[in-house]
Amino acid sequence: MHNHRTSVTQFIIEEQRKLAGATGDFTSLLNDVFTACKVISNLVNHGELVGVLGAAGSENVQGEEQKKMDIITNDIFLQTNEWAGHLAAMASEEMDDIYQIPAGNPKGKYLLTFDPLDGSSNMDVNVSVGTIFSILRCKGNCVNPTAEDFLQRGTEQVAAGYAIYGPSTMLVITTGQGVNGFTLDQNIGEFVLTHPNMTIPEETREFAINASNMRHWEAPVKRYVDECLAGKEGPRGEDFNMRWVASMVAEVHRILTRGGVFMYPLDEKMKAKGTEGKLRLMYEANPMSFIVEQAGGASTTGRIRIMDIQPSELHQRVPVVLGSKNEVERITSYHNE
Ligand code: AHG
Ligand code: MN
Ligand code: MN
Repeated sequence: MHNHRTSVTQFIIEEQRKLAGATGDFTSLLNDVFTACKVISNLVNHGELVGVLGAAGSENVQGEEQKKMDIITNDIFLQTNEWAGHLAAMASEEMDDIYQIPAGNPKGKYLLTFDPLDGSSNMDVNVSVGTIFSILRCKGNCVNPTAEDFLQRGTEQVAAGYAIYGPSTMLVITTGQGVNGFTLDQNIGEFVLTHPNMTIPEETREFAINASNMRHWEAPVKRYVDECLAGKEGPRGEDFNMRWVASMVAEVHRILTRGGVFMYPLDEKMKAKGTEGKLRLMYEANPMSFIVEQAGGASTTGRIRIMDIQPSELHQRVPVVLGSKNEVERITSYHNE
């Protein structure tokens, strides 16, 4: 007999059945998002065969150089999600303003935010990249939504997920009932459930931080890393390992797989420039925090829980400390001492 495997479509339809009053709207929206990830996966896999590597010659709202693929993947997300009538509007790290659903298309009750290509500096060197997304309910005027409608706390997210384009393409999602991982079967074009109920080990001996910023770190971050680096002979009494991929998606995926802690903290250089952090609250920090917490981990700015932050602007940036609970709690306590 054929060995049945659960596709992500079957999985979310079965989840939907557990919710009273679900119309299928949300399930269809998720399906469109997954389709966009499959299209991006295909492009990422083909790389220079389809001429998508290199810089676009433009900058995003945060003054970061855009890669060709930042723009292409942003367009893919818009085109795949604008027509079906599930969304009131979209917002992305690569667009200055929110994206209105084009006239002639029906509008729906959800808002979609995304980082279409996370870690895009890794595209040209053939290292893992990903896509991060978050779904919110449109609570205000869903006919003419504004940026204000997006300014909801992370705790309000209906769903969040990421796709990672690595040795295999995977999709990791949460709708608030745990975290599940799916692997893209290229032959049938479906994400198949391969990692049910992903959880982050509480204890870890691995940390991730861009150590080139060390001279700018605040004292609590310096203390934490120093204690890790001191190894067996130090206060932790254990040797630690360090990783830095420069794709948040890859770091979070590693942490979901074998534990660890990831930090992009506030530092003195950012303070001098008047920025709060590097990573974006709406497109990176909130969706990843939702996933990490749902997997039993923790996520803070070093001082407060990320998902409790009331956003004040669409492109707001925040410091991020996430991963194995005990380590995140330790780092947060160093900040609050
Ligand atoms: P993006 O490619 O979407 O701009 O995101 C890159 C982010 C994040 O994924 C990664 O952890 C971090 O920036 C890397 O920063 P450094 O280049 O400072 O290491
Ligand atoms: Mn990113
Ligand atoms: Mn990006």
